[in-house]
Amino acid sequence: MPAAERRPGTTRYVVREGRPEDAPAMAEVHVRGWQTGCAGLIDADHLAGLSITQATRRWAGHLANPAPATTVRVATEDTGTENVGTENVATEATGTENTGTENVGTEYVGTENADTRVTDTVVGFVRVGRSIDPASTFGNAPTPGELFELYVGQPHWGTGVAAALHDAGLALLAADGFVTASLWVVRGNARAIAFYRRRGWVPDGLVRTQHEDGAGWEELRFRRALDLQGHGGPMPGASRVAP
Ligand SMILES: CC(C)(COP(=O)(O)OP(=O)(O)OC[C@H]1O[C@@H](n2cnc3c(N)ncnc32)[C@H](O)[C@@H]1OP(=O)(O)O)[C@@H](O)C(=O)NCCC(=O)NCCS
Repeated sequence: MPAAERRPGTTRYVVREGRPEDAPAMAEVHVRGWQTGCAGLIDADHLAGLSITQATRRWAGHLANPAPATTVRVATEDTGTENVGTENVATEATGTENTGTENVGTEYVGTENADTRVTDTVVGFVRVGRSIDPASTFGNAPTPGELFELYVGQPHWGTGVAAALHDAGLALLAADGFVTASLWVVRGNARAIAFYRRRGWVPDGLVRTQHEDGAGWEELRFRRALDLQGHGGPMPGASRVAP
């Protein structure tokens, strides 16, 4: 259902750790994200030729053998209809008493009960970690954490799930001790840039040119502090959103 048709307050999401079996859904979100978010900005033939099969392989590899110091969080849609607005869909997994929940450390995971249903299909994801940009591009500042990728399926744009993933990613970076973060965004991707600016990200002036299969495009680097009390910081313990 397109975002515009979603009734406010009827869609809720769970943010959890990415798993290898999420790869196909992540690949679909990823490829469609490029095709919609970068339409008109990157060669149309290149975008049309992006392969979900190849992306699935890439994500399966990432999730099975994560690169050092990188983490993936995914958002899944809660399709429960009878108990929307209650808090009993997600249970904090303590690894001790919560029989029926999955122990993923301190994360929140969906549980099924008589009143609600949780689908486990990924509708968006974020990947964060230590920046792989050359240290020299940060001047005297220490290497920041990086928000490598943030993608949400178009039917879920404008629902708040992107913000939940963004905040979860930044919280992970802050927990890993990073005090600043960077990201790259395709020049002209107005929706993504508006989203990031609203969350305190500002361009630092660095531009890079990417080339892939004969297509080329420019990306702008944005940075922000990880003072999570400021712009866009997560609410303590927040892993679910009610748009
Ligand atoms: C970028 C993305 C994660 C943002 O999630 P979202 O749910 O669409 O974001 P929101 O609706 O909360 O915010 C989008 C902002 O852009 C604004 N916007 C929407 N269309 C716009 C346009 N054409 N031009 C400028 N601003 C636009 C919205 O009004 C909103 O601004 P606000 O927060 O001030 O109200 C999502 O759109 C996405 O996955 N896009 C495709 C993949 C992508 O481009 N990822 C980033 C790669 S670097």
